[in-house]
Amino acid sequence: MKNGFGTKTRKVAVVGTGFVGSSYAFALLNQGIANELVLIDINQEKAEGEIRDLNHGMPFASPMHIWSGDYDECKDADLVVITAGANQGPGETRLDLVEKNVTIFNKIVRRIMDSGFNGIILVATNPVDILSYVTWQASGLPKERVIGSGTILDTARFRYLLSDYFHVDPRNVHAYIMGEHGDTELPVWSHAQIGGVPIKKFLNVENVAEHPDMKEIFLNTRDAAYHIINRKGATYYGIAMGLVRITKAILDNENAILTVSALLEGQYGVNNIYSGVPAIVNKDGIREVLELELNETELKQFQHSAHVLKETREKACQ
Ligand code: 2OP
Repeated sequence: MKNGFGTKTRKVAVVGTGFVGSSYAFALLNQGIANELVLIDINQEKAEGEIRDLNHGMPFASPMHIWSGDYDECKDADLVVITAGANQGPGETRLDLVEKNVTIFNKIVRRIMDSGFNGIILVATNPVDILSYVTWQASGLPKERVIGSGTILDTARFRYLLSDYFHVDPRNVHAYIMGEHGDTELPVWSHAQIGGVPIKKFLNVENVAEHPDMKEIFLNTRDAAYHIINRKGATYYGIAMGLVRITKAILDNENAILTVSALLEGQYGVNNIYSGVPAIVNKDGIREVLELELNETELKQFQHSAHVLKETREKACQ
Protein backbone atom coordinates (compact mmCIF):
# COMPACT_ATOMS: atom_id res chain seq x y z
CA MET A 1 0.00 0.00 0.00
CA LYS A 2 1.31 3.46 -0.88
CA ASN A 3 0.65 6.57 1.14
CA GLY A 4 1.13 10.27 0.42
CA PHE A 5 4.83 10.00 1.19
CA GLY A 6 5.48 7.54 -1.64
CA THR A 7 6.67 4.81 0.73
CA LYS A 8 5.05 1.68 2.05
CA THR A 9 2.61 2.43 4.85
CA ARG A 10 3.94 1.50 8.26
CA LYS A 11 1.01 2.01 10.56
CA VAL A 12 1.18 1.84 14.32
CA ALA A 13 -1.79 2.22 16.67
CA VAL A 14 -1.23 3.10 20.32
CA VAL A 15 -3.90 2.29 22.89
CA GLY A 16 -3.50 4.62 25.86
CA THR A 17 -2.03 8.11 25.72
CA GLY A 18 -0.84 8.45 29.30
CA PHE A 19 2.81 9.13 30.10
CA VAL A 20 4.06 5.92 28.43
CA GLY A 21 1.86 6.09 25.31
CA SER A 22 2.61 9.75 24.62
CA SER A 23 6.35 9.35 25.30
CA TYR A 24 6.33 6.40 22.89
CA ALA A 25 4.62 8.56 20.25
CA PHE A 26 7.24 11.27 20.77
CA ALA A 27 10.15 8.82 20.54
CA LEU A 28 8.63 7.17 17.45
CA LEU A 29 8.25 10.54 15.72
CA ASN A 30 11.85 11.43 16.54
CA GLN A 31 13.22 8.18 15.16
CA GLY A 32 11.23 8.23 11.92
CA ILE A 33 10.34 4.53 12.03
CA ALA A 34 6.63 4.62 11.17
CA ASN A 35 4.71 6.93 8.86
CA GLU A 36 1.20 6.52 10.30
CA LEU A 37 0.35 6.71 13.97
CA VAL A 38 -3.12 6.51 15.47
CA LEU A 39 -3.65 7.38 19.11
CA ILE A 40 -6.60 5.67 20.80
CA ASP A 41 -7.73 6.72 24.27
CA ILE A 42 -11.05 6.74 26.14
CA ASN A 43 -10.17 10.35 26.86
CA GLN A 44 -10.28 11.63 23.27
CA GLU A 45 -9.49 15.19 24.31
CA LYS A 46 -6.20 13.97 25.80
CA ALA A 47 -5.33 12.10 22.59
CA GLU A 48 -6.23 15.17 20.53
CA GLY A 49 -4.03 17.38 22.73
CA GLU A 50 -1.08 15.02 22.31
CA ILE A 51 -1.55 14.98 18.54
CA ARG A 52 -1.54 18.75 18.25
CA ASP A 53 1.58 18.97 20.39
CA LEU A 54 3.36 16.25 18.37
CA ASN A 55 2.32 17.80 15.05
CA HIS A 56 4.07 21.03 15.99
CA GLY A 57 7.34 19.10 15.94
CA MET A 58 6.70 17.81 12.42
CA PRO A 59 8.96 20.36 10.66
CA PHE A 60 11.84 18.86 12.65
CA ALA A 61 11.06 15.18 12.00
CA SER A 62 10.50 12.68 9.19
CA PRO A 63 6.93 12.85 7.84
CA MET A 64 4.43 10.95 9.99
CA HIS A 65 0.67 11.27 9.81
CA ILE A 66 -0.74 11.29 13.35
CA TRP A 67 -4.42 11.26 14.19
CA SER A 68 -6.77 10.10 16.93
CA GLY A 69 -9.27 7.38 16.29
CA ASP A 70 -11.34 4.53 17.61
CA TYR A 71 -10.50 0.85 17.77
CA ASP A 72 -11.64 0.32 14.16
CA GLU A 73 -8.38 2.07 13.18
CA CYS A 74 -6.51 -1.07 14.31
CA LYS A 75 -7.89 -2.99 11.32
CA ASP A 76 -4.98 -2.31 8.97
CA ALA A 77 -2.28 -1.48 11.55
CA ASP A 78 0.99 -3.40 11.35
CA LEU A 79 1.45 -3.03 15.08
CA VAL A 80 -0.78 -2.17 18.02
CA VAL A 81 1.02 -1.05 21.17
CA ILE A 82 -1.00 -1.26 24.38
CA THR A 83 0.08 1.10 27.13
CA ALA A 84 -3.36 1.64 28.72
CA GLY A 85 -4.27 0.65 32.25
CA ALA A 86 -3.58 1.52 35.87
CA ASN A 87 0.05 2.18 36.78
CA GLN A 88 2.05 1.77 39.96
CA GLY A 89 1.79 4.29 42.74
CA PRO A 90 4.54 4.70 45.37
CA GLY A 91 4.89 1.47 47.39
CA GLU A 92 2.90 -0.63 44.90
CA THR A 93 4.47 -3.58 43.05
CA ARG A 94 3.71 -4.34 39.43
CA LEU A 95 1.92 -7.52 40.47
CA ASP A 96 -0.43 -5.44 42.67
CA LEU A 97 -1.97 -4.09 39.44
CA VAL A 98 -2.95 -7.47 38.07
CA GLU A 99 -6.67 -7.63 38.80
CA LYS A 100 -7.51 -4.11 37.64
CA ASN A 101 -5.51 -4.45 34.45
CA VAL A 102 -6.63 -7.96 33.49
CA THR A 103 -10.23 -6.69 33.45
CA ILE A 104 -9.27 -3.66 31.36
CA PHE A 105 -7.22 -5.81 28.97
CA ASN A 106 -9.97 -8.29 28.23
CA LYS A 107 -12.08 -5.38 26.95
CA ILE A 108 -9.26 -3.67 25.04
CA VAL A 109 -8.11 -6.83 23.26
CA ARG A 110 -11.66 -7.74 22.27
CA ARG A 111 -12.13 -4.31 20.70
CA ILE A 112 -8.81 -4.52 18.85
CA MET A 113 -9.69 -7.95 17.42
CA ASP A 114 -13.27 -6.89 16.55
CA SER A 115 -11.75 -4.35 14.13
CA GLY A 116 -10.43 -7.23 12.00
CA PHE A 117 -6.83 -6.59 13.14
CA ASN A 118 -4.33 -9.21 12.04
CA GLY A 119 -0.93 -7.77 12.90
CA ILE A 120 1.37 -7.82 15.93
CA ILE A 121 0.43 -6.66 19.44
CA LEU A 122 3.10 -5.22 21.71
CA VAL A 123 2.09 -5.04 25.37
CA ALA A 124 3.70 -2.56 27.78
CA THR A 125 1.19 -2.32 30.65
CA ASN A 126 2.12 -3.96 33.95
CA PRO A 127 2.32 -6.65 35.08
CA VAL A 128 3.55 -6.99 31.52
CA ASP A 129 4.30 -10.73 31.50
CA ILE A 130 0.84 -11.62 32.77
CA LEU A 131 -0.93 -9.12 30.51
CA SER A 132 0.96 -10.45 27.49
CA TYR A 133 -0.37 -13.92 28.28
CA VAL A 134 -3.89 -12.55 28.75
CA THR A 135 -3.57 -10.74 25.40
CA TRP A 136 -2.38 -13.88 23.66
CA GLN A 137 -5.28 -15.87 25.03
CA ALA A 138 -7.94 -13.22 24.44
CA SER A 139 -6.75 -12.32 20.92
CA GLY A 140 -6.43 -15.81 19.48
CA LEU A 141 -3.33 -14.54 17.62
CA PRO A 142 -0.38 -16.89 17.15
CA LYS A 143 2.09 -16.64 20.05
CA GLU A 144 4.71 -15.09 17.78
CA ARG A 145 2.50 -12.07 17.26
CA VAL A 146 1.91 -11.16 20.89
CA ILE A 147 5.02 -9.66 22.42
CA GLY A 148 5.53 -8.09 25.84
CA SER A 149 8.13 -5.42 26.53
CA GLY A 150 9.42 -7.90 29.12
CA THR A 151 12.85 -7.09 30.51
CA ILE A 152 13.97 -4.84 27.66
CA LEU A 153 14.03 -1.86 30.03
CA ASP A 154 15.66 -3.79 32.89
CA THR A 155 18.34 -5.00 30.49
CA ALA A 156 18.87 -1.41 29.32
CA ARG A 157 19.13 -0.20 32.92
CA PHE A 158 21.60 -3.00 33.69
CA ARG A 159 23.75 -2.25 30.65
CA TYR A 160 23.73 1.46 31.46
CA LEU A 161 24.80 0.91 35.09
CA LEU A 162 27.53 -1.55 34.06
CA SER A 163 28.76 0.84 31.37
CA ASP A 164 28.96 3.61 33.94
CA TYR A 165 30.93 1.39 36.34
CA PHE A 166 33.37 0.10 33.73
CA HIS A 167 33.52 3.39 31.74
CA VAL A 168 32.55 1.88 28.40
CA ASP A 169 29.81 2.58 25.88
CA PRO A 170 26.57 0.79 26.97
CA ARG A 171 26.26 -0.52 23.40
CA ASN A 172 29.38 -2.60 24.03
CA VAL A 173 27.97 -4.16 27.20
CA HIS A 174 26.22 -7.47 26.59
CA ALA A 175 24.30 -8.52 29.66
CA TYR A 176 20.73 -9.67 30.12
CA ILE A 177 18.09 -9.36 32.79
CA MET A 178 15.62 -12.24 32.44
CA GLY A 179 12.38 -13.39 34.06
CA GLU A 180 9.54 -11.27 35.39
CA HIS A 181 9.68 -7.56 34.62
CA GLY A 182 9.51 -7.01 38.36
CA ASP A 183 10.75 -8.11 41.73
CA THR A 184 11.74 -11.71 40.83
CA GLU A 185 13.87 -10.85 37.77
CA LEU A 186 17.48 -12.08 37.63
CA PRO A 187 20.83 -10.94 36.22
CA VAL A 188 22.49 -13.41 33.88
CA TRP A 189 26.05 -12.90 35.12
CA SER A 190 27.26 -16.14 33.52
CA HIS A 191 26.91 -14.55 30.05
CA ALA A 192 27.71 -10.91 30.89
CA GLN A 193 30.47 -9.55 28.67
CA ILE A 194 32.04 -6.28 27.66
CA GLY A 195 33.32 -6.32 24.10
CA GLY A 196 33.48 -10.10 24.22
CA VAL A 197 35.46 -10.22 27.49
CA PRO A 198 33.55 -11.90 30.36
CA ILE A 199 32.86 -9.49 33.23
CA LYS A 200 34.52 -11.88 35.69
CA LYS A 201 37.80 -11.25 33.86
CA PHE A 202 37.46 -7.50 34.27
CA LEU A 203 36.78 -7.99 37.97
CA ASN A 204 39.29 -10.81 38.39
CA VAL A 205 36.83 -12.92 40.42
CA GLU A 206 35.21 -16.32 39.92
CA ASN A 207 31.75 -15.50 41.27
CA VAL A 208 30.51 -12.20 39.83
CA ALA A 209 27.14 -12.54 41.58
CA GLU A 210 28.88 -12.25 44.98
CA HIS A 211 30.94 -9.17 44.10
CA PRO A 212 29.57 -6.30 46.31
CA ASP A 213 29.59 -3.71 43.51
CA MET A 214 27.84 -6.08 41.08
CA LYS A 215 25.25 -6.95 43.74
CA GLU A 216 24.56 -3.25 44.11
CA ILE A 217 24.31 -2.76 40.35
CA PHE A 218 21.73 -5.52 40.12
CA LEU A 219 19.68 -4.13 43.03
CA ASN A 220 19.72 -0.67 41.46
CA THR A 221 18.54 -2.26 38.21
CA ARG A 222 15.75 -4.29 39.79
CA ASP A 223 14.53 -1.45 41.99
CA ALA A 224 15.03 1.37 39.48
CA ALA A 225 11.31 1.92 38.92
CA TYR A 226 10.70 2.32 42.68
CA HIS A 227 13.51 4.88 42.90
CA ILE A 228 12.05 6.86 39.99
CA ILE A 229 8.40 6.59 41.06
CA ASN A 230 9.30 7.87 44.54
CA ARG A 231 10.93 10.90 42.97
CA LYS A 232 8.75 11.78 39.97
CA GLY A 233 5.64 9.63 40.25
CA ALA A 234 6.06 7.48 37.12
CA THR A 235 8.59 6.10 34.62
CA TYR A 236 8.13 6.68 30.91
CA TYR A 237 11.14 7.81 28.85
CA GLY A 238 13.15 4.59 29.22
CA ILE A 239 10.22 2.28 28.51
CA ALA A 240 9.12 4.45 25.58
CA MET A 241 12.56 4.11 23.98
CA GLY A 242 12.53 0.36 24.64
CA LEU A 243 9.14 0.08 22.91
CA VAL A 244 10.47 2.03 19.93
CA ARG A 245 13.45 -0.32 19.80
CA ILE A 246 11.09 -3.31 19.54
CA THR A 247 8.95 -1.44 16.98
CA LYS A 248 12.03 -0.86 14.81
CA ALA A 249 13.04 -4.53 15.05
CA ILE A 250 9.57 -5.45 13.77
CA LEU A 251 8.99 -2.81 11.08
CA ASP A 252 12.56 -3.03 9.75
CA ASN A 253 12.55 -6.85 9.90
CA GLU A 254 15.80 -6.69 11.86
CA ASN A 255 16.02 -10.15 13.42
CA ALA A 256 17.33 -8.29 16.46
CA ILE A 257 17.94 -10.08 19.75
CA LEU A 258 16.01 -8.32 22.49
CA THR A 259 14.84 -9.37 25.94
CA VAL A 260 11.09 -9.38 25.40
CA SER A 261 8.28 -11.26 27.07
CA ALA A 262 7.55 -14.38 25.02
CA LEU A 263 5.50 -17.52 25.49
CA LEU A 264 7.67 -20.33 26.84
CA GLU A 265 6.90 -23.87 25.82
CA GLY A 266 9.49 -25.90 27.64
CA GLN A 267 12.47 -23.53 27.30
CA TYR A 268 14.33 -23.18 30.60
CA GLY A 269 12.07 -25.95 31.95
CA VAL A 270 9.06 -23.61 31.92
CA ASN A 271 5.71 -24.05 30.22
CA ASN A 272 2.72 -21.88 29.38
CA ILE A 273 4.13 -18.65 30.78
CA TYR A 274 5.11 -15.33 29.21
CA SER A 275 8.43 -14.15 30.68
CA GLY A 276 11.42 -11.99 29.74
CA VAL A 277 13.93 -13.91 27.60
CA PRO A 278 16.32 -13.05 24.79
CA ALA A 279 14.47 -13.61 21.54
CA ILE A 280 14.93 -12.90 17.83
CA VAL A 281 12.41 -10.26 16.72
CA ASN A 282 11.48 -9.53 13.11
CA LYS A 283 8.51 -8.62 10.87
CA ASP A 284 6.65 -11.77 11.95
CA GLY A 285 7.10 -10.99 15.65
CA ILE A 286 9.08 -13.42 17.78
CA ARG A 287 11.02 -15.68 15.40
CA GLU A 288 12.70 -17.69 18.11
CA VAL A 289 13.32 -17.74 21.85
CA LEU A 290 17.03 -18.15 22.60
CA GLU A 291 17.85 -20.73 25.20
CA LEU A 292 21.00 -19.64 27.03
CA GLU A 293 22.97 -22.11 29.08
CA LEU A 294 22.17 -20.66 32.48
CA ASN A 295 24.12 -21.81 35.52
CA GLU A 296 22.30 -23.71 38.25
CA THR A 297 21.54 -20.63 40.39
CA GLU A 298 20.26 -18.63 37.42
CA LEU A 299 18.06 -21.47 36.21
CA LYS A 300 16.54 -21.83 39.69
CA GLN A 301 15.93 -18.08 39.88
CA PHE A 302 14.30 -18.10 36.45
CA GLN A 303 12.04 -21.00 37.35
CA HIS A 304 11.10 -19.36 40.65
CA SER A 305 10.20 -16.16 38.77
CA ALA A 306 8.03 -18.18 36.34
CA HIS A 307 6.33 -19.89 39.27
CA VAL A 308 5.43 -16.53 40.86
CA LEU A 309 4.06 -15.29 37.53
CA LYS A 310 1.97 -18.41 37.05
CA GLU A 311 0.53 -18.29 40.57
CA THR A 312 -0.32 -14.61 40.28
CA ARG A 313 -1.98 -15.11 36.92
CA GLU A 314 -3.99 -18.10 38.05
CA LYS A 315 -5.25 -16.18 41.09
CA ALA A 316 -6.19 -13.14 39.01
CA CYS A 317 -7.81 -15.08 36.15
CA GLN A 318 -9.79 -17.73 38.03
C1 2OP B 1 9.38 0.46 34.93
O1 2OP B 1 10.10 -0.50 35.16
C2 2OP B 1 7.24 0.90 36.02
O2 2OP B 1 7.56 -1.04 34.80
C3 2OP B 1 7.89 0.28 34.87
O3 2OP B 1 9.85 1.59 34.77
